[in-house]
Amino acid sequence: MSGRRERFERDGFLVLEDFVDPEACVQLGARADELVTAEMRGRDRPSVFTTHEQDRRSDEYFLASGDRISAFVEADAVDEQGRLVVPPERAVNKLGHALHDLDPVFAAFSRTAALADLAQDLGVGEHVLWQSMFIFKHPQIGGEVGFHDDHTFLWTDPMSVVGFWFAIDDADLGNGALQAVAGGHRRQPTRRFRRVSDDPGDGTTFDVFDVAAATTLGEDEELVAIEVPRGSLVVLHGGLPHLSGPNRSQRSRRAYTLHAIDPRAHYPADNWLQRGSLPARGFG
Ligand code: FE2
Repeated sequence: MSGRRERFERDGFLVLEDFVDPEACVQLGARADELVTAEMRGRDRPSVFTTHEQDRRSDEYFLASGDRISAFVEADAVDEQGRLVVPPERAVNKLGHALHDLDPVFAAFSRTAALADLAQDLGVGEHVLWQSMFIFKHPQIGGEVGFHDDHTFLWTDPMSVVGFWFAIDDADLGNGALQAVAGGHRRQPTRRFRRVSDDPGDGTTFDVFDVAAATTLGEDEELVAIEVPRGSLVVLHGGLPHLSGPNRSQRSRRAYTLHAIDPRAHYPADNWLQRGSLPARGFG
């Protein structure tokens, strides 16, 4: 077994600095900005929704994003009428979830010989790239991502999801770096996020398997800070508990993430992410 695989299986995560050319990170960030501009064009017009209708529409937009490039805004970037109250480039906190299949710049970043070799080395060479996200975590306003594992959100039976987290900027605790529970990937799943029904307007819910563990999620945990420079790759086991804090700094903390699953595992029809007719491809 390689040293990389040994560390990954022991800790549930693997940090590889200098995995990507920093210039490629700069270019990916520039492309993300172009996609934000394209996606947000026309979405800053006043729109009148009741709160309930707005929740329903935001659920539908989210649940339809598995085979699209969609832009998600910070909760406090819109007013009660659904109007943007900050410029679009500050409002958008995330693009997702099929960047790697639909955009040529993201596709080239997502399928490289180095990544295919690594996947092979870690025993996930036959996985398919299922989901991609570009996360902005803007200076001062970038929000936290709470304590979770990725299997909760991309459920397969058996568990197979693996995350590839690329640092597009230097990440440290000041701007919201990843933090994880080393070895926590061996715990039993405590909950699963899924669609309530076939109607996307019904939204999503969590099935809780371990009420005690789910209600104290993230409390009294010993977290390892994963502070990495631009161009680093952090590989995350699907069961690894992790989080990232808010960005209180003047620096952005952008990241690009890919999630891959084993196509031989069962993928439930009520998982939130459905790709419709968009085929999923591997690392090659
Ligand atoms: Fe995650």
